[in-house]
Amino acid sequence: MQIRDAVVLVTGANGGIGTLFVEQLLRLDVAKIYACARSVSKLNHLVALDSNRITPVELDIVKPDSVTSAASQCSDITLLINNAGTSLNQGLIAAENLDAARQEMEINYFGMLSMCRAFTPILKQQGGGAIVNILSLLGKVNLPFSGSYSASKAAAISMTQGIRAELASQGTLVVAVMPGTVNTELAKDWPNPKVEPAEVVRATLQAVIDGEEDVYPGEQATQISSQLLTDPKGVEKYLAGFLPGMALAGTDA
Ligand SMILES: NC(=O)c1ccc[n+]([C@@H]2O[C@H](COP(=O)([O-])OP(=O)(O)OC[C@H]3O[C@@H](n4cnc5c(N)ncnc54)[C@H](OP(=O)(O)O)[C@@H]3O)[C@@H](O)[C@H]2O)c1
Repeated sequence: MQIRDAVVLVTGANGGIGTLFVEQLLRLDVAKIYACARSVSKLNHLVALDSNRITPVELDIVKPDSVTSAASQCSDITLLINNAGTSLNQGLIAAENLDAARQEMEINYFGMLSMCRAFTPILKQQGGGAIVNILSLLGKVNLPFSGSYSASKAAAISMTQGIRAELASQGTLVVAVMPGTVNTELAKDWPNPKVEPAEVVRATLQAVIDGEEDVYPGEQATQISSQLLTDPKGVEKYLAGFLPGMALAGTDA
């Protein structure tokens, strides 16, 4: 798919990876960007970059009315980038209750799914287009330090495969992006190494151009994804050492 002249919607545009998507898309000469955030006032600095091409949109992906409203405001998109997500860094057993696990599932799984559903008819009308789902390598293997986040991303990986199959006949490319640890606010308590968000964005947009379905941006993600093919139990046992509540920031995984 061509990025130049595309009309793109980015969720979580006020955050680390989302902001870099907007900046890079501008450089690649897209026609229009709908930059979405729960609070549009957090988008002022981004809109100032190019107010002709960037339209701020208020969007909370877990609120059905908000998703419906975004779909009616952004009815000409050709590329949907589902970037919004959260990690509350809770264990599955160690957490006091199920609140974090439910919230992560609401945002990372149900929110993403409802965006895919709402924008499917729009993409069909535009001739297919593409959906990019920002997932995580932790959806492929659980990091107990943020065990419920890992589980929500595993659900979202499976969902992405399912919608890819369902949308093949309308010609929509569905791209799964599975980074390791990225140098953003969300991962501030996670161990090194961390890939820069700009590299995640670069690899993702290249995959859209090339029609590639699965992306593992950065060296850590490339290495671990191939290790998961040859020694999945070894990777699981290694990550089992990173338990809930540990002080991991600044350490090396
Ligand atoms: N950082 C990593 O190590 C890493 C690794 C793999 C995958 N990822 C994934 O990459 C994506 C972007 O994360 P990031 O690292 O850039 O983190 P970030 O800076 O914390 O950005 C997360 C963004 O998601 C938004 N968001 C959260 N809940 C939302 C909701 N209900 N509706 C709309 N927007 C919502 C946040 O908005 P608010 O400001 O309103 O909260 C924020 O803009 C996430 O899906 C994350 O899981 C990150």
